[in-house]
Amino acid sequence: MISLCVEPEKYYNEIFNLVRQFYPLEDINKEGLKFDLKLNFFIGDESVIMQYEKEDLVQERRHYYERDSSIESNERIYHSSLVKKSVKYLLNELDPSFLPWGVLTGVRPVKIVHSLLDKGMNENEIISRLKFLEISDENILRMIDITNIQRNLVYPLKKDRLSIYIHIPFCPSKCAYCSYNTQVPDELRNNISIFLKTLYKEFEALFYLIKEFEIDTIYIGGGTPTVLNIEELDIVLKLLSNISKAVREYTVEAGRPDTITYDKLKIIKEYGIDRISINPQTMNDATLKSIGRLHTVKDIKNVFEMARKFDFKTINSDLIIGLEDENLDDIKYTLSEIEKLSPENLTIHTLSIKRGARYMDNYGKYSFETIQEMMDYSKLFARVNSYKAYYLYRQKNILGNLENIGYAKEGHESIYNIQMMEERSTILALGMGGVSKFFFPDENRHESYRNFNDLKLYVDNIHDSIKIKSEFLKEIIGG
Ligand SMILES: C[S@@+](CC[C@H](N)C(=O)[O-])C[C@H]1O[C@@H](n2cnc3c(N)ncnc32)[C@H](O)[C@@H]1O
Ligand code: SF4
Repeated sequence: MISLCVEPEKYYNEIFNLVRQFYPLEDINKEGLKFDLKLNFFIGDESVIMQYEKEDLVQERRHYYERDSSIESNERIYHSSLVKKSVKYLLNELDPSFLPWGVLTGVRPVKIVHSLLDKGMNENEIISRLKFLEISDENILRMIDITNIQRNLVYPLKKDRLSIYIHIPFCPSKCAYCSYNTQVPDELRNNISIFLKTLYKEFEALFYLIKEFEIDTIYIGGGTPTVLNIEELDIVLKLLSNISKAVREYTVEAGRPDTITYDKLKIIKEYGIDRISINPQTMNDATLKSIGRLHTVKDIKNVFEMARKFDFKTINSDLIIGLEDENLDDIKYTLSEIEKLSPENLTIHTLSIKRGARYMDNYGKYSFETIQEMMDYSKLFARVNSYKAYYLYRQKNILGNLENIGYAKEGHESIYNIQMMEERSTILALGMGGVSKFFFPDENRHESYRNFNDLKLYVDNIHDSIKIKSEFLKEIIGG
C-alpha cells in the first residue's frame, strides 16, 4: 500500500500515473494511515521536493527542473513535463525501473506526434520534444514511422467522415487475463435476443443522421461477434447492409476460433466483410487451457485454413506476450507457427494486468529483461516477415511498461484501428458498452460517450443514449 500526497493537488493524477508505472500492483491512496511506503510531493516553481517514509526511514529529496531553452514554451503540457521529469528522477532514486516511454503515461503516444505535425513542427523539432519527455530513441523512431504510415491513410481530416463500431458484448467463456465486461453462456441466447432488439432500435433511430456522413469503415467487435448464431449474425449484417456498400474497410472481429464455423464465414463473406480476426493469443495448447480459451492450436489452424478458402482480403491475429508460464522459447514457437499461417495483420499485445481479471499474480514473475527479450524477438520476427508497425497503444499495468503494436503487411493497415487509436475521425458506437467518439476537426475537439455497460441499463436508457448521440452528430454536420 502506498500513500501518495501531492501539492498542489492539480498534479495528483499525472503523478499518480507515473508512480503507478514504478509500483504497478500496489494500491495507491491519498494520505492513507496504513502504508508500506509514503510519498509526499511538493511541486514548486523551480523544483520538486519528495518526502518519503518507509519502515523507520524518513527522508527528503529535492530535484530542480531541467529546462530546455530550445523547446521552452508557455504550454501547460511543457510545465507538467518538467514536473514529471523531476518526479521520475526522484522515484528512480528509490527504484531503478526503466521507463521506455519516459514520462509519458497516456495510452496514445502516436497521437502526440500527429498533434505536433498539425501545429506545423518539422521532424527534428518533434524529435527534440519527444527526447525531452525521455522516450527511448527506439520508441521515438517507431512513433515517427507509424505516424508517417497513418497520415497517408487518414489525412486530410474530414468533418463528415464516420466509422461505425458495433459492440457485441458476449463471449463463449471468460479468458483469465481479460477484464472486458462481456457475458458468458448461462442465459446467453435470451440476453442476445434482448440485446439485438435494442441494437436494432438504436441503429434505426440514428440511421437518418448516419446517412448524412461518408461512412469510412465498419467494425463489428466485442467480445466475440461470432458467438452469434447464423440467424443472429444475419440480423446484424442485414441491418448494416444499408450503409456498407461503399466503405473502405469492413471488419468482423471473429476472434475466438471455437465460435467460427464454415457457415458463419460464408455469411460474413456474402455481406462483403473484407477483414476478419482469428486470434490465437498463443500457439501453445497448455497455455490456451490455462487461460480458459475453449479451443486448441489445431482448431486455430483448421479455422485459418477454412477462412483462407473464402479469400478475405485481410486476416488479423492477436497474440499476447507475458501469458502465465510462457518464456522466450514459447514466444519463438508461437511466432514460428504464426509464420506458417501468415496473417496479413498481427497484433502483439504485452500482457496488462487488469483488476477485473482472474490473472492478477503475473506481475513480479518476469524481470523487465525477460519481457523485453520477448518483445524484441517479436519485433525482429515482424521485420523479417515484412510486417510494419502501423498503430501502437499502451495500457495501464502493462508488463515492463511496454506497449501493444499492430503490424500489417503493406496495403493491409486497418483504417478503423488507426481512427480509433488516433482519434482523427468520428466513431459512432452502437451496442452495450460501445464507446462513441465525436470529432470536431476545426476545433481539434473530442467528445466521448459510452453506452451503458450493463444489459438492463443499456436497454432501459436507449432513448437517452440515442438522443445524446443524435445531438453530437447534428452538431458535427451543422444541423
Ligand atoms: C477485446 S479483445 C477481443 C478479441 C476476441 N474476443 C478474442 O479474444 O479473440 C481484443 C484483444 O485484446 C487483447 N487483450 C485482452 N485482454 C488483455 C490483457 N489483459 N493484456 C493484453 N492484451 C489483452 C487480446 O489479445 C484480445 O484478442
Ligand atoms: S479475450 Fe476475447 S474471448 Fe476472452 S474474455 Fe476477453 S473479449 Fe472474451
